[in-house]
Amino acid sequence: MYNSIPLTSKSANSMSVNKEIKRVTTRTVQEMKMRGEKVSMLTAYDYSLATIVDDAGVDIILVGDSASNVMAGHETTLPITLDQMIYHAASVVRAAKRALVIVDLPFGSYQGNSKEALNSAIRIMKESGAHGVKLEGGIEIAESVTRILAAGIPVMGHLGLTPQSIYKFGTYTVRAKEDAEAQKLRDDSLTLQELGCFGIVLEKIPALLAKEVTESLSIPTVGIGAGQHCDGQVLVIHDMLGINKGFKPRFLRQYASLYDVMNDAIKNYVADVKSADFPNEKEQY
Ligand code: KIV
Repeated sequence: MYNSIPLTSKSANSMSVNKEIKRVTTRTVQEMKMRGEKVSMLTAYDYSLATIVDDAGVDIILVGDSASNVMAGHETTLPITLDQMIYHAASVVRAAKRALVIVDLPFGSYQGNSKEALNSAIRIMKESGAHGVKLEGGIEIAESVTRILAAGIPVMGHLGLTPQSIYKFGTYTVRAKEDAEAQKLRDDSLTLQELGCFGIVLEKIPALLAKEVTESLSIPTVGIGAGQHCDGQVLVIHDMLGINKGFKPRFLRQYASLYDVMNDAIKNYVADVKSADFPNEKEQY
């Protein structure tokens, strides 16, 4: 698991990807922070997209519970089940040759008590072959984090906008703008580090707070809507590829417009079928 990793320089085309690496591990991302190399993280939920993500050199693939939104069409992340997360995670693990694969513990699979949290984490590790789990929350989940870590399972924290608590927040706007919430986030990040988390996702918080937290920690922070000073960045793949047509929050950089590309291709297919142009003689037996 812990390779000696020659991650030293940017490659010739100026991307921070080193193809010599065999498998990214939690130690690799720790070393990236120490070297000042940014960590790239993207979500994936199925074999085909995870293959593309892994081949492109992404360091961490997150099997996020955002699958509830982008794969299943739910309004929130709350409905997705542990069995469904394991199905997605196993598909991604079969594709990922290089990336570290981290899986979200879904809502309801760890909040009850730490024993339930450990059982859920063990099911994910055993049944999907993933390399670690991510949990939302700070001090309130400390017992669960401790128990999961004691079983030898790497844990990533998630602070700031934690979508599993959306009904408590009531809105998806930027978190920790007020002093009290910002202080709790600082305290929670230190707690998660002391417990032994290997990294923390910071979602939708002010960039200056993310900078302060990032500088105060020895473990890497991975931001989404948390500004340029985090040790790494994560996006939902459907958002950055432009598969979700209407979703364009300020923090999102859209690298492609795949909705349009795919929609055009499918319209052409429909037209070809209707006009009996497809299949032609060369496309039949
Ligand atoms: O579920 C998810 O995709 C996430 C990211 C937004 C960090 O947790």
